[in-house]
Amino acid sequence: MNRKKTQFCSMDTDLLLDADRRANRYLAEIADMDVFPNEFARSSLSRFDENLPENGFDTSETLSLLDDVGSPGTVASNGSRYFGFVIGATIPVAAAAQRMMLAWDQCASSYTNSPTADVIEKIAARWILDILDLPHSSGVAFGTSATSSTLVCLATARRTLLLRKNWNQDVRGLRGAPEIRVVISEKVHVTVLKALRVLGFGEQNLILAPVDEKGSIIPSKLPQLDEMTILCLQAGEVNTGSFDPYLPLMTAAKAAKAWVHIDGAFGLWARAAPKKRHLTDGVEMADSWTTDGHKWLNTPYDGAVGVCRDRHAMAATMNSDADYSSASADSQKNLGIEFSRSARGIPFWAVLRTLGRTGVAAIIERHCALAEYVADALVEAGFNLLTRPVLNQVLFSFGSSAETAQIQSLVAAKGKVWFGMTVWNEAPAMRVSISSWRTDTHDVDLLISELKAVAHVVRSAGYDDSWKPKD
Ligand SMILES: Cc1ncc(COP(=O)(O)O)c(C=O)c1O
Repeated sequence: MNRKKTQFCSMDTDLLLDADRRANRYLAEIADMDVFPNEFARSSLSRFDENLPENGFDTSETLSLLDDVGSPGTVASNGSRYFGFVIGATIPVAAAAQRMMLAWDQCASSYTNSPTADVIEKIAARWILDILDLPHSSGVAFGTSATSSTLVCLATARRTLLLRKNWNQDVRGLRGAPEIRVVISEKVHVTVLKALRVLGFGEQNLILAPVDEKGSIIPSKLPQLDEMTILCLQAGEVNTGSFDPYLPLMTAAKAAKAWVHIDGAFGLWARAAPKKRHLTDGVEMADSWTTDGHKWLNTPYDGAVGVCRDRHAMAATMNSDADYSSASADSQKNLGIEFSRSARGIPFWAVLRTLGRTGVAAIIERHCALAEYVADALVEAGFNLLTRPVLNQVLFSFGSSAETAQIQSLVAAKGKVWFGMTVWNEAPAMRVSISSWRTDTHDVDLLISELKAVAHVVRSAGYDDSWKPKD
């Protein structure tokens, strides 16, 4: 046993150097990879299907299995030709910061656990509030995702509203608690629904706010609000990128003393871009906000923030002090979900320090301009644009539903680019998202030419869609 441990340690440097070498090679080759792994690469993944080893394998052999078999089976979303979902790549300085974090292996719960992590995450929090122009005294919790960050914000919202009725949820729980109304957009993201469900609000109790053709709430149709209402708005609808009209909605919410939460998983970053900032006017009046780093800021997974205007309420809701582990109220373990945690704020810090305000704005604005460019080219090529791009998303179809679906799968099968399908107005639609810092005009030109070539084939083949349900 001792011998094995010594061997393992002496191999440590070589192993990590080999991992770095392999990682660098992967990144160098990503420009030529199939964006979605081919059949052979995917079927080779069965080589991972081993029985739990009795005595363990050699470390270098484990690394080589991971790279030789695992790398070809990955989706090249860290490259420039991936247009699926809203998935950013990783800016190299964030990957480098993550590399240091792995070496440090800090449990970044509080200053006592890691002075470096605590100090840097506090600065990252300040910079995020600064660049997004949110109230500077807000609490900021770095979480794993927009989903978990929304959970934190909505838990804080509920506890705060109940306290208004002198109901201390921490002591009394929820049985018999005053009722809280939750108003959501008809186009609410599924993960906000998930957070509400997990918190026990019950889907049948949620009140829907009607939306327009782009998916933005129609202010004149906003359901009744009161001081026991949580209103969930969004910045960046997942298909169209649309924003809710905050000024009239916030005015109504403020008058009613409702709590407003903003799901801005990717769209909140429009606030950092002078040409798009107007779309977010009024968003700063909300009570809580969620956004991701791992989408448009191009930090690695898992990186997100939950922000609450009332940092004391957030800290009271999320506190996890124990006799053996008490820390300041603004320690990350007392603001977010995790007790033991990685310092997810550090990649945010690294990216913001490297890009600065102008660098972030340049990425956002470039992606939005590329989305416009793609939209125009697709219209010219006979595609049906379902809405003009608001941000970095392009939503379109071609011919019938079956033709639309066939085009997406044929383009994906060729492996040069990848984007996904969605449903818009109850019909299948293609959705392109431009979110990778690596993507430039050359990549979107390739996307456009792939789409045109496949559309031509589908049209000339007179694709038979009789087996599919009609629109
Ligand atoms: C608008 C919106 N909200 C929330 C989420 C969930 O984000 P995460 O995957 O970080 O939980 C997404 C993800 O696509 C999104 O687009």
